[in-house]
Amino acid sequence: LRSRWLAVGGALVVVVTGSVALVASAASAQVQPFQQQLYIPPVLQGPEVTLEMVEADVQLLPTGPPTRMWTYNGNFPGPTIRRPAGEPTQLAVRNRLPATFGEATLHNHGGHSASSEDGQADSFLIPSGGMRTYTYEHMERGEPERAAMQWYHDHRMDLTGRNVWNGLAGLFILDDEVEAALDLPSGEFDIPLVLADRSFDEQNQIPYVFNPLGTVGDTILVNGRPQPHFNVGDRKYRLRLLNASNRLPYAVELSNGQPMHQIATESGLLPAPVERHQIVLGPGERVEVVIDFAGHLGEEIVLRAVGGGGGMVVGGDVLQFRVDRDLIDDSALPATLRPIPDFGEVSVTREFSLDFADDMWTINGLPFDPERFDAEPALDSTERWIFTNNTEQSHTIHIHDVDWLLEHRDGQPPPAWENALKETWFIEPNETISLITTFTGHTGAYVFHCHMLEHEDMMMMAQFNVLPGTERSRGEYDHRQPP
Ligand code: C2O
Ligand code: CU
Repeated sequence: LRSRWLAVGGALVVVVTGSVALVASAASAQVQPFQQQLYIPPVLQGPEVTLEMVEADVQLLPTGPPTRMWTYNGNFPGPTIRRPAGEPTQLAVRNRLPATFGEATLHNHGGHSASSEDGQADSFLIPSGGMRTYTYEHMERGEPERAAMQWYHDHRMDLTGRNVWNGLAGLFILDDEVEAALDLPSGEFDIPLVLADRSFDEQNQIPYVFNPLGTVGDTILVNGRPQPHFNVGDRKYRLRLLNASNRLPYAVELSNGQPMHQIATESGLLPAPVERHQIVLGPGERVEVVIDFAGHLGEEIVLRAVGGGGGMVVGGDVLQFRVDRDLIDDSALPATLRPIPDFGEVSVTREFSLDFADDMWTINGLPFDPERFDAEPALDSTERWIFTNNTEQSHTIHIHDVDWLLEHRDGQPPPAWENALKETWFIEPNETISLITTFTGHTGAYVFHCHMLEHEDMMMMAQFNVLPGTERSRGEYDHRQPP
């Protein structure tokens, strides 16, 4: 399937060649639009944070029974952890899920933690009934990590799709002084929006059905709820968007055609704001935008998101902003934000192909093997990694540990919004992307994979091992042991 994003007559349409395309204009769960208020997950601060993995009944739909989910602390999305960059966090995770759930592992996506703290897919697991404390230094290149919206989720080998679908995901926001100096909208004007699709049955439950092409729901939820509304003032807001879906990329826009000013990617601030009318987000990608509601007092403006892929098209109006009050705006949208660091000279180039072989999604033709390293870059070296999508489906490539700069997409220089540090990229069929980074900070094993979770579970994952130097050879390092 080759999908293309089009805007026709103000409505988003996804053309999926070779299959039937349809556009839903509303959420498919039987709810009255914009009835519910936007849910904002509780915020956890402080250097010691605890997440309890528990089964909980969560009222996702405005009417009828709650939805039984696997949650962090009973919330979906999980609590938002919010920490200052450069100050360590101890995150204790207790696995209190029913024994049938099995072992857990928590990955903080976008973090720059040591290999042992990274939420490995098949080592350092949290047994049923057990617990593990992850330590994050929040340091990067010898400095406090860049402020960014990271997100944590379960990462168990073969089961990530099931585990995330059932509720195991939440946000981890890092703040820093660089951002604080910019007077961007903050506090109650800084709002996370987690987009993810699910299908509800008649009992309001969300049974997970594994689909090797990617599991897709018929209703796009915002912070876990279908079609909520959010009351805003006539001023600037900072909205942090995450596509937390298992499979679907989303095209996002505003109903009145008003631009959004993108200020950040997964890896924090862009060099300068970029005006966007439609934003395509692959699973795992984030953008932060400033939307100015000034001049719209009394209006209702709808955020639209349409997802397409795997033969499905879902979504439409997903969130309504009600501009209901007159507010002073003391925030700014600066003309410049934060420069990109210099990565220096590339010493090694590696190529990776995304393939479909033997009923598995693979990287360089090989299924994931936690015992195999697919690349061994040296600490502090700069490398170029080239990914080519040889399949007929789109993918999103996510690389753990370090942030990267996109050099080109299909030989073209990147658009302004991708000419930035990132760690997750949406790749259409036949596309090639070229990335560079320097492997600073940590030695050890990290994974990279497709963030379409069933593709990841169907083996589209590989592993790199950052070596301290040329003297240490493969095999001496046991990535299953803490350093
Ligand atoms: Cu968001 Cu390796 O994952
Ligand atoms: Cu994929």
